[in-house]
Amino acid sequence: MTTEHSSLELRGITKRFGALTANDHIDLEVRAGEIHCLLGENGAGKSTLMNVLYGLYQADEGEILLDGVVQRFAGPGDAMRAGIGMVHQHFMLIPVFTVAENVLLGHERALGGLAGAKQKVREISQRFGFHIDPDAKIEDLPVGVQQRVEIIKALSQDARVLVFDEPTAVLTPQETDELMAIMQQLRDEGTAIVFITHKLREVRAIADKITVIRLGKVVGEASPQSSSTELASMMVGRPVELTVQKNPPVLTDNTLEVAGLTVLDALGQKVVNDVSFTVRGGEVLCIAGVQGNGQTELTEAILGLQPKASGSVRLNGRELLGKSVRDVLDAGVGFVPEDRKVDGLVGEFTIAENLMLDRYQGAPFVSAGTVDRGARDEFATEKLGAFDIRAQGIHTNVGTLSGGNQQKVVLARELGRPLALLVASQPTRGLDVGSIEFVHSQIIASRDAGIPVIVVSTELDEVVGLADRIAVMYRGGVVGVVPADTSRDTLGLMMAGERHTPEGAAA
Ligand SMILES: Nc1ncnc2c1ncn2[C@@H]1O[C@H](COP(=O)(O)OP(=O)(O)OP(=O)(O)O)[C@@H](O)[C@H]1O
Ligand SMILES: [Mg+2]
Repeated sequence: MTTEHSSLELRGITKRFGALTANDHIDLEVRAGEIHCLLGENGAGKSTLMNVLYGLYQADEGEILLDGVVQRFAGPGDAMRAGIGMVHQHFMLIPVFTVAENVLLGHERALGGLAGAKQKVREISQRFGFHIDPDAKIEDLPVGVQQRVEIIKALSQDARVLVFDEPTAVLTPQETDELMAIMQQLRDEGTAIVFITHKLREVRAIADKITVIRLGKVVGEASPQSSSTELASMMVGRPVELTVQKNPPVLTDNTLEVAGLTVLDALGQKVVNDVSFTVRGGEVLCIAGVQGNGQTELTEAILGLQPKASGSVRLNGRELLGKSVRDVLDAGVGFVPEDRKVDGLVGEFTIAENLMLDRYQGAPFVSAGTVDRGARDEFATEKLGAFDIRAQGIHTNVGTLSGGNQQKVVLARELGRPLALLVASQPTRGLDVGSIEFVHSQIIASRDAGIPVIVVSTELDEVVGLADRIAVMYRGGVVGVVPADTSRDTLGLMMAGERHTPEGAAA
């Protein structure tokens, strides 16, 4: 289905934040019945552009046209009424509200109250094969399901333009496939779709059109037939190494020994069940598995964040289990948490403040109870450069940074001090390909410095690229620890619960 005009046209959109031009005269056309991918580095201006479209920001220059007619959106309500729906990069759902209440929010009149909202949730769920209870509370739902609620909310308005801002960052591969099928179905019904993702495989699988943005400007269109390497270099403006570069591991005497680790949740269920493994200094153990199989609780137990943990976690012979988080960090454990917004950063603090967040206890940043601003700012400036954090400066609030740049602040802090052990959960979630290359090289540098490294990842590419050995978790247990060159098919079966013991290895 095509219309005479582009369904959506953005003309010369410019958006400034103080001295920073996040969008610089951007032109973009999205037709009905087309999936249009927006590709660009972290901080390139993708979310900003979509927030302008959705009425969350007012453009400084430029105009938005729907079917050739100029629109004025004073807020998201106007955009929604004009038929624009958006699935946001950072969820905008209210955790203590139910699914139906969240869908109703802002659409009270159109949906005809809560009963209408519930009906709508059921209708859309049925149509797309979601299993969602309209009365479930958001905070009780796993992220993959929350993502579906965002989608239902966007669809409940019969949007003719739908924006998906990095919806797959928190989804499992299977959920991703399902979402892509939904997008294709909507496309075939004539919806104009904008799809933002950093996963080039997804772009290549689904895009009808690709526009690349760099530093707030459109740098060109790419063909959906382009290779990942071509897309990556167009995006970043230089060739990018898409495979992890590393030498064979050189093992040291440093050791992390996890033995019989069991973690109970609030209801007394075993979310980590009798897990044992050893990681030597100089190697990366990747923990693979579908999200929600105990990986989060396992890493949190190592950090001292799980009160109901038993067994033992010994770092170089010293027991960590039962210690406070403070003591664990002081023992030199670096931790990259899975959800940077909850555990990693304080949005209202500046980059410089966030970089010393767990280091208020003394040298080098604090002496006699006062912060040495000079030392702090020097450290922050160095990290800003080293980690290529795109921000106006070290005194910018972390909450205003793009998703990928927030992640880089966490990494800069955790990798920026002497470590005895590194535990990184989903370290590259939301990062662009250039940043992933950098973060992987930093993780390998920690490994090559001779410390044990644990990386939890649901991305098989990342696991296979980084790991020296792979532990696969399923329903709280480790179903096997296998060499890095194990086939993806075998890993896939293990992720579905099949036990596997490589030949010649101790069970
Ligand atoms: N509310 C705001 N105040 C100040 N600066 C902002 C604000 N929102 C975004 N920016 C800045 O605008 C630039 C573009 O950010 P944006 O979030 O659009 O990037 P993005 O392309 O979506 O990146 P990512 O892939 O990391 O999500 C960044 O430098 C960001 O710090
Ligand atoms: Mg973004």
